[in-house]
Amino acid sequence: MPNNSTRDQVSAMEGDGFYNRHSAMQAVGIAALISLWKAVCRTVPIDEAPLTIVDYGSSQGRNSMAPMRVAIDILRDRRGASVPIEIVHTDLPSNDFSALFSALASDDGSYMMGASNVFPSAIGRSYFEPLLPPQRVHLGWSTWALQWMSGSAIDAQDHVLAGMSALPTVISAVAKQQTSDWRRFLQLRSQEMKPGAKLVAGFTARATSGTGWEWLLGELWSAAGEMRELGLLSEAEQNHLTIPIGLRSLEDIKAPFIQTGYFANLRLEHVDLVKVSDPCWEEFERSGDNRAFAKLHADMTRAWSGPVITSLISPSRERNELVSELFARFERRLSESPRPHEPYMAAVVLSKRP
Ligand SMILES: C[S@@+](CC[C@H](N)C(=O)[O-])C[C@H]1O[C@@H](n2cnc3c(N)ncnc32)[C@H](O)[C@@H]1O
Repeated sequence: MPNNSTRDQVSAMEGDGFYNRHSAMQAVGIAALISLWKAVCRTVPIDEAPLTIVDYGSSQGRNSMAPMRVAIDILRDRRGASVPIEIVHTDLPSNDFSALFSALASDDGSYMMGASNVFPSAIGRSYFEPLLPPQRVHLGWSTWALQWMSGSAIDAQDHVLAGMSALPTVISAVAKQQTSDWRRFLQLRSQEMKPGAKLVAGFTARATSGTGWEWLLGELWSAAGEMRELGLLSEAEQNHLTIPIGLRSLEDIKAPFIQTGYFANLRLEHVDLVKVSDPCWEEFERSGDNRAFAKLHADMTRAWSGPVITSLISPSRERNELVSELFARFERRLSESPRPHEPYMAAVVLSKRP
């Protein structure tokens, strides 16, 4: 069953469009998924109309514009210029959906620019719950979301990210939660997908050599450690700063499909790991400006983790000030030891039994 406390324990991204303005790293990963997405859009069965595309974990939408435009263009090539296409963006109720609709209306890259017969909408509900009527979806898309657990598995006393803890109890709690979340997500999506429908997902994952987050999130944890040493955070408060994200390995992703090749009528058509390059590194090498480099990374990190970190500090404390202090220290630490941040992303294609 889904963890009903999702809304309390997993917060959406930094609001007021901050995530849209600070998610260049995620955009690099998305660019690496586009060839898989194009192949899926070219081959998915599309006999009935309207055509329905669902974007699971859209956040504020800017990073979904390019892939949705690609899908519209390919589906229109296949079915004609006037086929109606609905695009449903889903995220948690706490998501900044205003920023999503503003981006759709006025971003230069919006897939709505010059489009006709395209119908965007949004659902504010966890994807660990049913979202759409049975067999409604032709194409699914989900990027940089499925690493978030449905709830907080356990506090890690040695890391800011649950999935990067080296403590056996935390490793096993995270693995258990990620196994059940993955199966739950697959079962629910399968119910919504039409026969033959396809879903492309990219989410941060673990290679045998590591995760690629060691430097960045190691520094965030060390910044929290500095605050504890100075008495700004208690030991218990630092320990509670555990972001509920787990990093699956390729084996974890494949596990539900191993026995029969199918799970919940879904087949894993493709899975591999992509090392995502650092969008700020080239400019840093050119300019040598370590402070600018650190600011970009601190803002990108705060964009996805700021609200959840805030929610992990008691409301009785000056938590906004504490989080600002944490990110100021983090930024300083990054500027002192700049290096490329290159996380691993799992690239997954699922198809429903025809
Ligand atoms: C890092 S953002 C990715 C946004 C966008 N897809 C991209 O690639 O830039 C992750 C998003 O997943 C959403 N998310 C996390 N858990 C979720 C859940 N259980 N149901 C729906 N959305 C969820 C978060 O609220 C957040 O907006």
